[in-house]
Amino acid sequence: MRRGQPFAVAAFGARGTGKTAWCLQQLDALKPRRLMVWDYKHDHTMAGVGQGFTEWPAFVAACCRPTFAARYLPSHGHDMAEQFAAFCELAWREGNLLMLVDELAEVTKASKAPAEWRRCVNVGRSYDGGMKSLSIMGMSQRPAEVDKSFIGNCDTVHCGRLGYASDAKAMASAWGIAHAELMNLPDLHWVEKRADRPELARGVLQFSGASKGRAGKPKGRA
Ligand SMILES: Nc1ncnc2c1ncn2[C@@H]1O[C@H](COP(=O)(O)OP(=O)(O)OP(=O)(O)O)[C@@H](O)[C@H]1O
Ligand SMILES: [Mg+2]
Repeated sequence: MRRGQPFAVAAFGARGTGKTAWCLQQLDALKPRRLMVWDYKHDHTMAGVGQGFTEWPAFVAACCRPTFAARYLPSHGHDMAEQFAAFCELAWREGNLLMLVDELAEVTKASKAPAEWRRCVNVGRSYDGGMKSLSIMGMSQRPAEVDKSFIGNCDTVHCGRLGYASDAKAMASAWGIAHAELMNLPDLHWVEKRADRPELARGVLQFSGASKGRAGKPKGRA
């Protein structure tokens, strides 16, 4: 991931393995000028990530500014697919921003993704005559529940412990490692594959003492 260049990143792992904390550390390092967050579960650990919005018009207005960090907390009492489609449509229209989507499996499926999301994923690297681009970070507990074109388009796939043998086998087989490694990672341990490097990276998420209720600064690899 390099600031200024569009990228796509997926973070997987069973609950509590450190996906959100890792993504927040990436944000701390990247400091995106324009950030749109889909905060599906109104996650308190994301409370420090930009301004939170429950009202759609106010969120849209925030995302029209030249620089912003805006977090949308979708309403669980309304159609989630419709809200996510609107979120993706807005990201596409505004462009030149980073979209962070938590709990991707709640809004996409392995073999079917909303058209608005698919367009961001498949075409977002450069569009509108090269004037616009989108960077994307998506999180999910199970890679098997996320649309394949997103995973296939990712520059970085970051993975904590996977709870299902089938998920671990698919990922491990693509990476040429034993699936037991992915199933036995302790919390906060991760394996990562970057598209521009043949080798895997491994590490442990660490937190700086300065972090207050959210992820701290990256401390490097283990
Ligand atoms: N700043 C921090 N300092 C210390 N520990 C932290 C910090 N931020 C997160 N953690 C811990 O890291 C662990 C992983 O939390 P995280 O929310 O990243 O998990 P997750 O993989 O996103 O889980 P879920 O699927 O439930 O969203 C938790 O035990 C959490 O308490
Ligand atoms: Mg999380």
